Amino acid sequence: MITNICCIGAGYVGGPTMAIIAQKCPHIKVTVVDLNEKRIAAWNDENVLNIPIYEPGLSDVVAEARGRNLFFSTDVDAAIDAADMIFISVNTPTKTYGVGKGMAADLKYIELCARQIARVAKNDKIVVEKSTLPVRTASAIKNILDHTGNGVNFQILSNPEFLAEGTAVEDLLAPDRVLIGGDTTPEGQKAIDLLVEVYANWVPKQNILTTNVWSSELSKLTANAFLAQRVSSINALSELCEKTGADVNEVARAIGMDSRIGPKFLKSSVGFGGSCFQKDILNLVYIAKSYGLNEVADYWEQVIIMNDHQKRRFAKNIVKTLYNTVSGKKIAFLGWAFKKDTNDTRESAAIYVADDLLNEQASIHVYDPKVGAVQIQSDLNYLETRSEASNSEGVHVYDNPYEACKDAHAIAVLTEWDEFKAYDWQKIYDAMLKPAFVFDGRNILDAEKMNAIGFQYYKIG
Ligand code: NAD
Ligand code: UDX
Repeated sequence: MITNICCIGAGYVGGPTMAIIAQKCPHIKVTVVDLNEKRIAAWNDENVLNIPIYEPGLSDVVAEARGRNLFFSTDVDAAIDAADMIFISVNTPTKTYGVGKGMAADLKYIELCARQIARVAKNDKIVVEKSTLPVRTASAIKNILDHTGNGVNFQILSNPEFLAEGTAVEDLLAPDRVLIGGDTTPEGQKAIDLLVEVYANWVPKQNILTTNVWSSELSKLTANAFLAQRVSSINALSELCEKTGADVNEVARAIGMDSRIGPKFLKSSVGFGGSCFQKDILNLVYIAKSYGLNEVADYWEQVIIMNDHQKRRFAKNIVKTLYNTVSGKKIAFLGWAFKKDTNDTRESAAIYVADDLLNEQASIHVYDPKVGAVQIQSDLNYLETRSEASNSEGVHVYDNPYEACKDAHAIAVLTEWDEFKAYDWQKIYDAMLKPAFVFDGRNILDAEKMNAIGFQYYKIG
């Protein structure tokens, strides 16, 4: 039986996943480690509301388990040494240099973890890939562990995480499935059984799926590619709707009622964001290309091309509608996070829309309930489109939505936060320049009501 778990990486996956394991398995000591001292200090903050990741319900779970059997630490070696099972949950971003630049997953953090585990481990360990990895990465990890280790035995399992941000706690508590891939040898099967036993503390056995390692690794990339493909498909149709008078919400409803299609993931938007979809599809495209499967690669790449187009066309439509110029105009952004109920902004469509509008010399005024000025500036600086000084001159961040919208020529809704629907839109209208434009990149506002107030209201599709 597993009694001591270490998780390397205290991010959006490692933090919530381990918090739930600790909550549901009080007999297991769970230590989450990270090199980032600030992040660990925030996880340990006396005030549990200051944990570094905003997820509905997460602070309560952490409050229950922290200090009991859930610990956050920067002492990676000690946690590895003590653990029977080590989860690797570090980031695997798209490579920004060298071979595979802009496409392949950068596995340097994974390799560092493997080398550290090999150096420290003095008894047999089960190493679990929780990060999303290219198919066949387990063999690279095994190779490093077996050739640099202290002669102890390692079993490598693939256990990809399917949680979505904003609903991480509910997804972890009641996952559609838990996927565990392992070696088909008796030792591999034993390792699989030990991890199944951990999840079986709260997940029904029939929802725990076991496969070989390669199927598990590839299933994670495939799941994200299918989900993103649905969003790009409905977004492609949104443009056609705008030309033909069809309504994309009505089309989505009509097709979603076909039980073979299903209603989920058919919300047309300003484009998908988040740390996973783009990165994982690019990775899939890269893998397909590396096997010479060019048609397969092109097929999936189109999902990204469509998404880039959707973001760009949203910005273009704002410029075109505002009489072909936004130079010096105040554009208020409601929302910066890549979706509601998270403080994560990675690959958020808002960043790219802002970048395009700044190129047109607009003045951007942002309000997001969970994202502050430092993050917003850093997201724009990361693109390196212009100097940091120009970004901070062009973008202003507010902690009050009404202030952000005051005297604006236009409002762009970039995130579907629930609170936006409940605002006093008459008050917002009264304080704006006229004609007052609203570009609803999430289709969350009531078109009839907005038009009745006097807004020039534009939705997607
Ligand atoms: P993240 O950037 O939030 O967290 C990763 C953490 O790992 C960082 O805090 C970093 O400091 C730490 N780290 C990196 N190298 C380290 C090392 N050698 N030792 C100790 N700590 C180290 O990333 P995330 O969003 O949690 O994603 C982690 C993995 O999970 C990725 O592979 C991602 O694709 C996958 N994933 C993410 C999501 C999601 O919704 N974010 C969902 C499913 C899967
Ligand atoms: C995704 C996967 O859903 C999850 O299973 C995986 O583990 C990690 O990647 P996440 O990126 O956190 O999760 O959020 P998700 O809900 O998938 O949304 C991704 C993006 O697509 C967001 O920008 C969201 O706004 C957008 N989206 C989603 C749409 O535009 N329309 C939809 O119908 C659904």
